[in-house]
Formats: sequence, C-alpha cells, structure tokens
Amino acid sequence: MKLAVIRETKPFERRVALTPEVCKQLIQAGFECHLEHDAGKTSFFDDTAYTAVGVIIQNDKSALLAAADVVLKVNPLTTDEIASMKKGAVAISFMYAATNPEMVEAAAKQGISAFSVDAIPRISRAQKMDALSSQANLAGYKSVIIGAYHLGKIFPLLMTAAGTIKPAKVVIMGAGVAGLQAIATAKRLGAVVEVSDIRPETKEQVESLGGKFIEVKGDDSIKIEGGYVKGVSEDFLKRQQEVISKHICEADLVITTALIPGKKAPMLIPEDVVKNMKFGSVIVDMAVEQGGNCACSEFAKTVEKHGVTIVGEANIPSMLPLNASELYAKNIATFLLHLATKDGFKWEIEEEITKGSLIVHNGRILK
Ligand code: NAI
Repeated sequence: MKLAVIRETKPFERRVALTPEVCKQLIQAGFECHLEHDAGKTSFFDDTAYTAVGVIIQNDKSALLAAADVVLKVNPLTTDEIASMKKGAVAISFMYAATNPEMVEAAAKQGISAFSVDAIPRISRAQKMDALSSQANLAGYKSVIIGAYHLGKIFPLLMTAAGTIKPAKVVIMGAGVAGLQAIATAKRLGAVVEVSDIRPETKEQVESLGGKFIEVKGDDSIKIEGGYVKGVSEDFLKRQQEVISKHICEADLVITTALIPGKKAPMLIPEDVVKNMKFGSVIVDMAVEQGGNCACSEFAKTVEKHGVTIVGEANIPSMLPLNASELYAKNIATFLLHLATKDGFKWEIEEEITKGSLIVHNGRILK
C-alpha cells in the first residue's frame, strides 16, 4: 500500500501527519511511504530525515495524490485534494464531518473512503489513537506558557532580600484533557490554581493535581453523554458566571478550555466581567475557534481590552509542531495498523473503532 503525506495548507498550521521515525516503522511493516517535498519542514523534519529512512519525496502533489492508496493529513483534505485522489483510495485526517459537509460530499463524489480521527471513540483500547487528546494535552501545556509570557509577573512565591512576591493566581475553566494539563503545568510553575467544570467527576481529578475546585451547584439542564457535556441551560450558565466571576476578577491568568462538542463554546466571561478584572491580567481563550469562552476574545489575535490582555491563538498545538507531529503521527500510525495491513484495509465495518470513525465508505456517506 502506498501512503502519501501532503503539506498542510491551512493558515497557522505547522504540523505534519507522519514523522521520519513513524515512517520507518510503517516501512518496516511493509508500507510504501511518499511525502510531498518539504511537508515536514515547519515541524523541523527536513526531507533528508525522511529519505534516510526510505521515504520517497515527491514534488508533484497531484501525481502523489493520484497514486496514493492512503492519504494522511492533520487537517481535513480540501475538495481539490480529494478531486485528485483515485477511486477506492482512503483519506485519514481530522475532518469534523458534522461541520464540514463539502468535504464529505466531495469524498462521496470521488468514490473514496474517509476516516475522521476526531470521531474515533474514546474507549480504552483506542487511547493510543486518540489524537484529540494528544493535541489537547500539548495545547494545555502551551496555554500556560503563553499566559506566563504575557503576564507582567512570575508564577511562584519568591522570598528575596528586596521583598516577597506572592504567587500568581491562575483560574482554569474546563478540566478536560487540555484543562488538566494546564493545571499540572501552572502548579509546576508555582501558581495557585482554581478550576471550574460542570462534570462532577472532575472535582477529584482537579484536587489530585493540587488545584482548588470552584463549586457551582449543578441542575437538571446539564446533559452529559459518554463523558462529554452535551448541553447546558442559559440559566445554569448565568448562575455559574455569578459564582466564577469573583474568582476571575481576582486572577492574574485565566485559561478557558470549556467546549461542548458540535456546539458553540459556552460563554463564561462576558465583557462586564473583563471590565472588573485586575489591570494587567491575562486571558488565554482556548475555545476561540468554537466561538470563544470570553466575549472579548478575537480569533487568531491578541488584543487588549479594559486593561486585560486576551489571547485568541488560532491553533495552539501547532505552536509545538515537533511534539504535536510526533504524537499525531503515532496516533494515526496505530489507527492505520488497526484498520489495515500492507496488503489492504480489513473493512470490519461493524467493529467499534471503524464504525465510529468511518465517515464515507467507497463513496457512500455513513454519517
Ligand atoms: P472537551 O474539549 O469537549 O471540553 C473541555 C472541558 O470543558 C470538559 O471537561 C467539559 O466538561 C468542560 N465544560 C463544558 N462546559 C463547561 C462550562 N460551562 N463550564 C466549565 N467547564 C465546561 O473535553 P475533552 O478534554 O475532549 O474530554 C471530554 C471527555 O472525554 C472527558 O470526560 C474525558 O475524561 C474523556 N476522555 C476519555 C478518554 C478515554 O477514555 N480514552 C480520552 C480522553 C478524554
């Protein structure tokens, strides 16, 4: 089977789907690996690192796509890229199919199959394939570093001859994969960390990392399915805002990670709260791509409003392209080896991981 990795074209993207190390493993497993020229350069893997392990470098992207049995990417394939693929070939990438109908239709029209890594079920045996988690984990770490960079003060308690510096106070909204890593990172740097989430099980997880959990009394409107928040009422969000705003106004850094899959991110910090925040404090809004948790954040921009720096980075995992590509490559190689051998795909359509992630099969839309 011929695998093809093409260069990512999405703005702010620096990751690559396969690293030389992972290509080496796939080549040993009998796959042929092809790479578009310089596809790994922005993640600090140059063409020579790939050729050293037996990868074939291609300059002609259309020819590469046309010859591939499997095309591997980080971001969803574009409709043009799909149009160059051969009938019966397979695409594997993040696809967010529910919000990307053009891509799904293009895949169907072209008669290819498409697996979406964001739809891999989050079950124990799929943990090694869980690219959502591997990328969110790194993003959680980086969000703290970004916040620390913008903050005019240090994180830890420091006693010096010139006086004592109080530790920074960090508030983290949302204790999913990114939020938990942000708690751990901020604690390691010496901050006092407070956290809010609406899934009850997060309290224990937060406390085990040394964070203080901000209690907001839940109600029947909170719908949780398969570990995900599926919905919450405006009324609850209002009550939550009332409780957390006091903590936010005392914070030096606020990191927001709250998401509801397939929906707009919940509004947790309205402009009124930003107005009451400490002069010089910082918000890193990790939910900005899904509409943001803060009313003042702007996509792909760092802005200053009411004396608060608000960071709306477009693609935080991509700011750590080396590690993010390493982990993503391992995720999708494990996924590929679950689905296929060097001789072809197994097409076990009813198997849980296949069933969850297969969006289009030989031109037929399944989701
Ligand atoms: P996510 O990115 O969808 O959401 C981030 C966090 O925001 C979640 O913790 C959610 O509860 C929280 N949130 C939503 N609305 C909120 C609000 N109004 N206020 C405060 N917080 C709010 O979540 P992520 O990180 O993708 O994890 C989702 C679930 O998947 C978790 O239950 C996690 O434990 C589970 N998971 C399971 C895995 C496995 O078993 N293989 C692997 C990774 C995650």
